[in-house]
Amino acid sequence: MADFKAALKDAQDVLRTWTSRGLIVTPDAEDLSKAMSHALHGGKALRAFLVLESSRLHGVERQIAERAAFAIECIHAYSLVHDDLPCMDDDDLRRGLPTVHKKWDEATAVLAGDALQSMAFEMMLHHSMGPHRAETTKTLAMAARFMVRGQMMDIEAETASEPLTLKQITYLQSGKTGALIRWSGTAGPQLAGEHSEELGRYADALGLAFQIADDVLDVEGDEATVGKAVGKDAGAGKATFVSLLGLDAAKLRARQLVDEACDALSCYGEDAETLKEAARFVITRTH
Ligand code: IPE
Ligand code: IPE
Ligand code: MG
Ligand code: MG
Ligand code: MG
Repeated sequence: MADFKAALKDAQDVLRTWTSRGLIVTPDAEDLSKAMSHALHGGKALRAFLVLESSRLHGVERQIAERAAFAIECIHAYSLVHDDLPCMDDDDLRRGLPTVHKKWDEATAVLAGDALQSMAFEMMLHHSMGPHRAETTKTLAMAARFMVRGQMMDIEAETASEPLTLKQITYLQSGKTGALIRWSGTAGPQLAGEHSEELGRYADALGLAFQIADDVLDVEGDEATVGKAVGKDAGAGKATFVSLLGLDAAKLRARQLVDEACDALSCYGEDAETLKEAARFVITRTH
């Protein structure tokens, strides 16, 4: 686990550096910058890690990889700020701190999310991002829209007359969580102008396992460790693998997915060890 732990910490450092570089607090919109910075703070940086690692495997220049890693974390942070709003999941706690709308107000949270999304595209289209920036940015836009679609299905499922089927839940989760993770895991080859079926399969399986673990933590985790409210999904009528299959079968599915993710990487040999460790981390994590 040593390599992965170090690589994840590196991703967190990259995120911190680019947050202070990208978000100069100006007096005219001080609260907006502070709220954006708050939203970018304190996460695991798993998506940034996936961008950096897939970039390393495909020989992408470090500066390009770092910008892309920051961009995906901006999109992720925006999705969380909006996800926590009272009209969505109505959460007061995120990463052990007050959510943006609690610390400021709802308007600030909506606007900080909007600005984080714009900043991601600004980062991606910077002239230094190399010859494949346009195509890679287009797939990021598509992933972000697929995430929003998944979020819409997640909200609609709360009031659906029939519980969702396994196929529907899988589709929902491949959008709301899977899309950004898939983009992160394939960003390296994309930025290099290459294609990796293997990383695509890895990231798809990882994304699904990741959301199952999130749903399990909502049932089994405690608020102080997880850093967000727990025990909310069932009450809100969320459609999850846990709600449909029960805890044990959901955990088994997550373990199978981690095996699938690792198997997909065989063509990278020992070079993919850190990504494999990441897959195992995803279902054993406590927050
Ligand atoms: C939480 O994602 C939201 C989901 C998509 C399940 P993370 O667990 O990656 O959140 P942070 O960034 O580490 O807080
Ligand atoms: C959120 O899923 C996914 C996105 C923000 C796109 P959840 O609603 O399950 O995430 P948490 O549990 O609030 O982190
Ligand atoms: Mg949600
Ligand atoms: Mg939520
Ligand atoms: Mg959740």
